[in-house]
Amino acid sequence: MKKYNVAVVGANGAVGEEILTILSEIDFPYAKVIALASSRSAGKTVEFDGKDLIIKELTKEIFEQENIEIALFSAGGSVSAEFAPACVKAGAVVIDNTSHFRMDADTPLVVPEVNPEDIALWNKTGIIANPNCSTIQMVQTLKPLDTKYTLTRVDVATYQATSGAGKSAMEELVHQMQDFFAFKLDESEHKAFNQQIALNVIPQIDLFTENGYTKEEMKMVNETTKIMHREIPLSATCVRVPTLRGHAEALTLSFEQEVNADEAREVLAKAPNIVILDEPEEELYPMPSIAIDKNETFVGRIRNDNYDKKILHLFVVADNLRVGAATNAVRIAQKFIEMQEKK
Ligand SMILES: NC(=O)c1ccc[n+]([C@@H]2O[C@H](COP(=O)([O-])OP(=O)(O)OC[C@H]3O[C@@H](n4cnc5c(N)ncnc54)[C@H](OP(=O)(O)O)[C@@H]3O)[C@@H](O)[C@H]2O)c1
Repeated sequence: MKKYNVAVVGANGAVGEEILTILSEIDFPYAKVIALASSRSAGKTVEFDGKDLIIKELTKEIFEQENIEIALFSAGGSVSAEFAPACVKAGAVVIDNTSHFRMDADTPLVVPEVNPEDIALWNKTGIIANPNCSTIQMVQTLKPLDTKYTLTRVDVATYQATSGAGKSAMEELVHQMQDFFAFKLDESEHKAFNQQIALNVIPQIDLFTENGYTKEEMKMVNETTKIMHREIPLSATCVRVPTLRGHAEALTLSFEQEVNADEAREVLAKAPNIVILDEPEEELYPMPSIAIDKNETFVGRIRNDNYDKKILHLFVVADNLRVGAATNAVRIAQKFIEMQEKK
């Protein structure tokens, strides 16, 4: 089997570090892996496969110099906008974790468990986009239920961890908690979030748009339509909570047909990369503490609506840095390689 030269852009970020960990955990066919970040980090190291990898500075030339064939970008939208085209020009496929190319009509937006066939459209732009973290775990859950019962509407409220906003946001929560125990929380700084995050919940992720929803909420709407290839009425309320890792979502799903919770549980149990944790009598249900460092999406609290037989409620949790970013990107790369090998 051919081995590939891989670049990880944003290698010392929250997502980049996770990509490196996953590449070393699984049997990924790499010839070499290079770590790229800004000039601020060049010369520092990141861990890869038990060794220290020296970070190189991201330049437009480096992809050709290093003969890169697959590049996984997670260094922010403006970095992808500036450097991904140069990377494609150098002959590589770009798998982009940022929001920059997601809604571009010629760029496929892929969750391998839902629309793997869209990867075949990669060569229109040379870029495959990775959806938003909160979208990925949701559509993985929606797809098998939609196939069986046909969704007519989705309502979702999220409980999103601080790591969704990067390393500095996690540090902000930790610092604020330290300040709380030092009786000086009211003096604590907040930069990553507009409000205090420690001992608080913030019903705003990203900026507000004209319709009263935030950009994060509209990403869930628009990305779901693109991935599922049909418009399912969807309303989201995205909330930041003071956890470090693992996004949780309460979903209310309406279907064309009547749906039975026990049967729906079996449908989801057979779906790829979904684990059912749903034993209320044992007090077993999905929580961020269970999902951290896992590559699966955990589903529980599956129950019928008290009033309407066509409505189901459930609770979904996944590691946002893995399932919501790094794992999805690496799974896209694996599928891409599989397709190339079949040619
Ligand atoms: N966190 C999540 O759950 C998640 C999920 C899905 C998608 N994403 C997206 O992935 C991207 C990265 O997120 P993150 O959470 O990993 O952020 P992060 O922890 O803040 O890391 C950012 C990374 O990008 C690098 N970087 C920043 N500016 C750069 C530049 N001008 N040139 C080269 N490298 C640069 C940083 O390196 P330096 O240290 O050198 O600045 C660092 O390695 C964002 O676009 C985010 O929206 C994040």
